[in-house]
Amino acid sequence: MKIAVLPGDGIGKEVTTEAVKVLRAVLGQDAALELIEAPIGAAGIEAAGDPLPPATTEIARAADAILFGAAGVPGDETIPYAMRPGASLLRLRKELGLFANFRPAFLFPELVGASSLKPEIVEGLDLMILRELTGDIYFGEPRGIHTLPSGEREGYNTMRYSESEIERIAHVAFRTARQRRRKVCSVDKANVLETMQLWREVVTRVSREYPDVELTHLFVDAAAMMLMRAPKQFDVMVTGNIFGDILSDAAAMLTGSIGMLPSASLALDQKGLYEPVHGTAPDIAGRNLANPIASILSMGMMLRYSFNQPGNADRVERAVRKVLADGYRTGDIAQPGCKQVGTSEMGDAVAAA
Ligand code: NAI
Ligand code: MG
Repeated sequence: MKIAVLPGDGIGKEVTTEAVKVLRAVLGQDAALELIEAPIGAAGIEAAGDPLPPATTEIARAADAILFGAAGVPGDETIPYAMRPGASLLRLRKELGLFANFRPAFLFPELVGASSLKPEIVEGLDLMILRELTGDIYFGEPRGIHTLPSGEREGYNTMRYSESEIERIAHVAFRTARQRRRKVCSVDKANVLETMQLWREVVTRVSREYPDVELTHLFVDAAAMMLMRAPKQFDVMVTGNIFGDILSDAAAMLTGSIGMLPSASLALDQKGLYEPVHGTAPDIAGRNLANPIASILSMGMMLRYSFNQPGNADRVERAVRKVLADGYRTGDIAQPGCKQVGTSEMGDAVAAA
């Protein structure tokens, strides 16, 4: 197992350390495990003058899977794109063709009380948001800020999807639904945007190859509302890059904390990048406060998707559940009467379990 470990910045470093700790525990001493660490984000600038040093890209390319922490610094968005720490991940995803982003939202029974919503709305929640990751308005050209004849400036970005880009993510959605409850909800804004009219048309066309999977469509605004009102109706929700970004963060709130949510981003060749959904959390970084469970569960997804080790993936998830059932909580999910612990203590507890 050759794994590129890219901790990045802020709490990315702290939580990745714990995920590696649990990985070693679940595989045991004798496992043929090759971990290659490389800098990315602000750490990349510090080490090599580039948020995505070419050497880091090469290490990621040569590995079977990538365990990523988080990248970015406060004020990130004011730094030019090529030197922006937070953009390093977007560049890496594009380089490796990681177009399919799996963001599960599920609620551990132990954390029903930590959700922002009523227990009857979220109890038993288990949905998979599948976000297209290498297209859409985040990458579309032309983009920029220009000056109008009036002297006023104008910003512009372009929402673009080709038929083949929509087709491949649609196939992933239907195949994923076949492993689950055989329901796909495609989210778009076809009532306003031509790009999304094409999206709906192509998803509908692909669905004919999967007659055993039920397909529904929702506009993104309605989808946001339904996610808050009745999220248990969803199985697989497939959508473009920007809508998926927003909806999956909203779904995070259903589950208690963004610190609990893992993700996987896969390429056509099944190479995967695994990372917590959260960012570098500068407000709590460096203080042993971050919840490492999102990173630990991301590592579990890596065992499942990139290394075909469902047994070990299940062991990781069961260990997390046991630790939660035993009352261990980091600050973000703390409840009255819990055993409040720090990042490294939580990692120790999961590794021991
Ligand atoms: P964030 O996810 O870093 O933080 C949002 C809030 O959630 C903060 O209050 C933070 O303390 C809390 N939080 C996040 N993860 C947590 C954890 N594991 N345990 C406990 N609390 C946690 O998002 P924000 O503040 O919008 O971005 C901060 C920086 O991270 C920015 O520079 C941004 O560009 C970068 N970022 C990087 C991402 C990535 O590398 N994938 C994703 C999102 C943001
Ligand atoms: Mg986001």
